[in-house]
Amino acid sequence: MLVTALLRKKRDGGTLQRDEIEFLIDGYCRGDVTEYQMSAFAMAVAIRGMDPGETATLTRAMLASGKLLQRPDGGELKTERPRVDKHSTGGLGDKVSLILAPLLAVCDLDVPMISGRGLGSTGGTLDKLESIAGFQTHFEADQLDRILADCGVFIAGATQHIAPADQKLYALRDVTATVESVPLITASILSKKLAANLDALVMDVKVGDAGFMKTPERALELAKSLVSVGGQAGLPTTAWLTDMDQPLGEAVGNAIEVNESVEILRGAGGPVRDLTIELCADLLVRTNVADDMESARAMLAQRIDSGLAMERFERMVAAQGGKLTQPLPLAASHPILAPRQGYLSHFDCAAIGDSVVCLGGGRRKVGDRIDHQVGIRVHGRVGDFFEKSQPVMTLHCSVTQADEYIKVLADSFDLSSERVESRPLVLERLGIPSLE
Ligand code: URA
Repeated sequence: MLVTALLRKKRDGGTLQRDEIEFLIDGYCRGDVTEYQMSAFAMAVAIRGMDPGETATLTRAMLASGKLLQRPDGGELKTERPRVDKHSTGGLGDKVSLILAPLLAVCDLDVPMISGRGLGSTGGTLDKLESIAGFQTHFEADQLDRILADCGVFIAGATQHIAPADQKLYALRDVTATVESVPLITASILSKKLAANLDALVMDVKVGDAGFMKTPERALELAKSLVSVGGQAGLPTTAWLTDMDQPLGEAVGNAIEVNESVEILRGAGGPVRDLTIELCADLLVRTNVADDMESARAMLAQRIDSGLAMERFERMVAAQGGKLTQPLPLAASHPILAPRQGYLSHFDCAAIGDSVVCLGGGRRKVGDRIDHQVGIRVHGRVGDFFEKSQPVMTLHCSVTQADEYIKVLADSFDLSSERVESRPLVLERLGIPSLE
């Protein structure tokens, strides 16, 4: 088979066969297919697309480039429980994973959560957890098995054995303007989730300015692709389209998001708790732990309010080497005041996310160090009323950097004299037969 013939076929809008896709991915991992040939392939797919069958084949080929996490065999490790996970396409202030993973673990599910780091304005779960002193995110597969057996949950980075083809291809896509391709995103996400050997996956596809998919149409396209390809590859997948035109919850940053997660695990209400419970309930129903969404929600609320979920979070943190002090320390605080009274009508999410990155709370390029103590607390949501001079946000950063970013953040929200409707959190659900 000639690589150039396959590239020509895709370039001209043809459909690649299974052996052709496997040839490309295997060759890329061995080094026989070069980086420039793979760049051409990624660009051809970004422009021409792939049908669901091709995308499923690409996903399986990327999965096969690595190993599967093993399932306990009933021997040394404890008996089998359904294995589930949630994946979010990423958004501002999205700390759902920190709460959802231990919460599901206290509902008799195993949650082997392979997470990523932040690049750009949406933070990464691993970076947030590394705000906790000593917390480790890199483990070998047998260590992960043990943490899962002991805690029912881990949140860790991918080992080099998990879909290595994706690790290589993602780095290439990042520098060839081919990240925003639905088939490539689908194969990238699902190859890693399939490697965790799951029984069910829920995808949280964020829609809006602060998310990866800016419009409902693009988000729906991705959600449909994830549900279809997940199903074809043997991983029952649902997808929720959720609002990302404002930060999710109050905290944006690293340590500050861990602090908010702990508050929620200790019983605080609000949109993060609500969304976490909805996504968890979907998984509880699909794994037959609960009969319907209503009883699932009640079970989840009880597991939070009784303190069980918080205890499990602490156990996971300790198993991963962390020492949780509460609250985690933050940089000096600087209030951003409402210039007049009015209803919050709009957030400039890019300005909020970029401020955290520029202050050192996120990465501009792979490998940058993170200042975990930088962050922003947003004191309201779209539709909330503020009096003149009431704090709308609190910025945490060094005193020397504060003036510049207080100005940026003062311009990052609008107040309207007219009443403003609040925005719905969940926009649509896909792949869910009948949960209610
Ligand atoms: N997240 C991933 O893991 N892969 C993508 O391609 C995009 C988001």
